[in-house]
Amino acid sequence: MSVTLTWTGHATWLVDTGHGTLLVDPFFDECPGCSTQAQHVACDAILVTHGHFDHVADLVAIARRTGAKVFCNWEIGQWLGRQGVENVQPMNHGGRVAVPGGTAKMEIAWHSSSLPDGTYGGNPCGWLLDVGGVRIYVAGDTALFSDMERIGRPDAAGRGLDVAILPIGDLFTMGPDDALEAVRLLQPKLALPSHYGTWPPIEQDAAAWARRVEAAKLAAATAPGVGEPVRVG
Ligand code: NI
Ligand code: MN
Repeated sequence: MSVTLTWTGHATWLVDTGHGTLLVDPFFDECPGCSTQAQHVACDAILVTHGHFDHVADLVAIARRTGAKVFCNWEIGQWLGRQGVENVQPMNHGGRVAVPGGTAKMEIAWHSSSLPDGTYGGNPCGWLLDVGGVRIYVAGDTALFSDMERIGRPDAAGRGLDVAILPIGDLFTMGPDDALEAVRLLQPKLALPSHYGTWPPIEQDAAAWARRVEAAKLAAATAPGVGEPVRVG
């Protein structure tokens, strides 16, 4: 089995599990350098890490158009309901749900989560995916935290993380140095950078970061371009 991960820009990822496509943090039309427009995105489920505009800007439109089920925290779920998005599974940290191709567990993150209209957006999260036989940790927007060691621990079957998707932009999230330490704690086979380059304050040399990860022998690492698929498993 294999899974295809596609970074469409900023912190938005498509995860083709072989049994459906998961869309993480829909941000397309207002996203500089994004590889596609919201109206062209196909997905079977949507995972949301938190309420900030750069993670939910196109959420309502895509959820309405596709009918894809949205997995998010309780407060974002209530906000979606008020906008007529009905196919929502609200949840909270520690919860695990079935998604196309496997499961998704809502993990903790250190960040904030207000929605674009000022509504309280609950707590931010990361996602631990077990899909298509591949274990993928999507950190979301977060600072470095020591529980990453726990998140990276092998599961009951002895399987560690195959992929860790980590913010490297600094300022609003971890920067490159802390993201390197995150790889050390998580011990994935492959590390992929996210949440950088979109605007000048979070400009980073992601290829240089990937080289540092590999030079430290922490994991394989690469910085895919927008729209460039990465196949794992
Ligand atoms: Ni944020
Ligand atoms: Mn963000």
